[in-house]
Amino acid sequence: MNDWKNLYRPRSQQEDYTPATIDHFMNPRQVGHIDDDDGCGRLGDPGCGDTLEITLRIDEQERIADIRFLIAGCPAAVATGSITAVLALGKTVRAAFALIEADVLRGLGGLPPEKVHCSLLSIGALRAALSDYCLRQYLLRTGRVQSAAEYRDKRDGGELSFTHDELATAVAGYAPDGE
Ligand code: FES
Repeated sequence: MNDWKNLYRPRSQQEDYTPATIDHFMNPRQVGHIDDDDGCGRLGDPGCGDTLEITLRIDEQERIADIRFLIAGCPAAVATGSITAVLALGKTVRAAFALIEADVLRGLGGLPPEKVHCSLLSIGALRAALSDYCLRQYLLRTGRVQSAAEYRDKRDGGELSFTHDELATAVAGYAPDGE
């Protein structure tokens, strides 16, 4: 009766996907793109070619008030993008940085071994989006940009200049407790 769902999963792997993984694939949460984002991260897997984008809205208490993801990828990557967004929503920037691949796998009840690498894509894109927010805050604090809109314009136009040390400094201020 659910045979139509099998069109989307290789027959050899269908028994290996947990009910949570199938649910997040069939009904992905937080799908979309935030235009005036407070942080944007994109990551691709050179091995399989899948790409995932995460955009964030962050409130004045530095909590993730909204998070959206877009993906061109496999069923496991859709599910991991969805559960990553659910796990990050409402967390502070600092707490979201503490999310790791194991949290994603736990949230889905596990993935087939050959699909575990897919969870790296969503965690990596989340960290890239969080780092983008941290860099923006750093450049605002140091007067290098005057507004979030100016930051976005320069970032999206490829005109943002910063050093690796500046990015590291910006992110270090949000390192999870104990790191
Ligand atoms: Fe590429 Fe899943 S096969 S992320």
